[in-house]
Amino acid sequence: MTNTGRKGSLAVFPGSFDPITNGHLDIVDRVLRVFGRVRMAILVNPEKRPLFSVDERVAIIREAYRGNPRVDVDTFSGLLVDYAERAGASVIIRGIRAISDFEYEFQMALMNRRLNPQIETVFMMPAESYSYVSSRLVKEVFQLGGRVSDLVPPVVEKRLRDKYGMPLVAGRVRRRK
Ligand code: PNS
Repeated sequence: MTNTGRKGSLAVFPGSFDPITNGHLDIVDRVLRVFGRVRMAILVNPEKRPLFSVDERVAIIREAYRGNPRVDVDTFSGLLVDYAERAGASVIIRGIRAISDFEYEFQMALMNRRLNPQIETVFMMPAESYSYVSSRLVKEVFQLGGRVSDLVPPVVEKRLRDKYGMPLVAGRVRRRK
């Protein structure tokens, strides 16, 4: 028997997580209802220019899940299925927010299956209230002075403020003069 879908088993949740959003956290909550442990696996991609370095993203996730022994974080490069196999996981988790996510995710899942048929991709849907939330939009909205406190965990909001040098003023971020 494989460890697919068993409590006590490990699921790998890969992504850029630049930065994590409440949508990601919502997916993790759902994964933990089905699987014993989740490993958030951050892709190290030298071709991308992320806002947060890999080390910062690891630290953010550690902080968000401090005290929760069922969630950990790691980094990987190379093929995701190879990483999952090395980690001893037979399940890859991906979140689907809307139909627009589906085509890319479907392609990736089938390619991953071809690369390693022992590893299953499981899609999970976040709460509808997060269906429009993405790391990219969070960064854009924050940078333009919009409120993101309902969209990201407090550690991310703090890191965004530090990154852009914006102090918190009466619940609203303010650009530094
Ligand atoms: O959060 P993202 O950026 O949508 O995550 C994409 C990710 C990291 C899951 C994907 O780019 C990936 O798995 N990259 C690893 C390289 C790989 O295995 N490529 C073949 C997959 S079809």
